Amino acid sequence: MKKDFLSITDLSREEIEDILQLSAELKEKTKKGKSPHLLSGRSVALIFHKPSLRTRISFEVGLNQLGGRGVYITDQEIQLGRRESIHDAAKVLSRFVEAIMIRTFSHRDVEELAKWAEVPVINGLTDLLHPCQVLSDLFTIKEKRGELEGLKIAYLGDGNNVANSWLNASLRVKLDLRIGTAKGCEPNREILTTAQNAGPSRVRLFYDPREAAEGADVVYTDVWASMGEKERFNEKAQLLREFQVNRELLTYADPHCLVMHCLPAERGREITDEVIDGPHSVVFDQAENRLHLQKALLVKLLGDG
Ligand code: CP
Ligand code: NVA
Repeated sequence: MKKDFLSITDLSREEIEDILQLSAELKEKTKKGKSPHLLSGRSVALIFHKPSLRTRISFEVGLNQLGGRGVYITDQEIQLGRRESIHDAAKVLSRFVEAIMIRTFSHRDVEELAKWAEVPVINGLTDLLHPCQVLSDLFTIKEKRGELEGLKIAYLGDGNNVANSWLNASLRVKLDLRIGTAKGCEPNREILTTAQNAGPSRVRLFYDPREAAEGADVVYTDVWASMGEKERFNEKAQLLREFQVNRELLTYADPHCLVMHCLPAERGREITDEVIDGPHSVVFDQAENRLHLQKALLVKLLGDG
């Protein structure tokens, strides 16, 4: 049966471990210029209704390195749900490609696409979730720290798709997850409650950024206004101004902490230049790892893992 990846919770703990392991193997081989052609002759539709640098290029280059190809499609072409129904587009695409990656606004649209597609559907970001990002971040943290269990992860800023995916990750990996945000910017209520009650992790919400950052092994942030809600930037910036990741805030974290940002960053807003370019920052390794992780994910979902 085909397997979709719409949320981190679509994977078991064992499947996550397998993907992280395969990512490490593929990364090592790629660095030696020997990326195996595990997806030779396979095509993946890459549908983008929002801009992208990392997601688009890492999927396209990753598929290329695996001997397959990505077909980049914008909303201009298929006009999903307008020119034809999601049902019909899903059925037709399934006759042409071996998987569909989609970045769009509505998470429900992606669920609808996955419901009708006969090939795996991968969520490349919705307003609700960004699972490829956080799965890749688990890989980066494991690579840097050697383990994930019990790490203190402080996510500071807007309770957005990335924060929601961190909450989902805490259902599969035992973490001390601390979300530091302002009133009015909290993550999805249902996802937060599930993470707090159902998983193996300790999950807490703080309205004080210093409390959230206290002793953190990882200090993570993201833009204050996501794609599709940039008109709310001033409002969000006002609410979240205390949550900027800067030198002063880092003094509360563990002295060896990693600083992470999924990028793109709005430098000088949610994070200072000094911190994003400083010694704790791993943001460019983090960006690179999207490539290795997604290659492993594709190999697993397309059945050759
Ligand atoms: N982090 C991330 O998904 O980047 P893009 O929006 O550039 O794809
Ligand atoms: N939360 C951000 C992530 C960008 C990769 C957004 O949705 O715009």
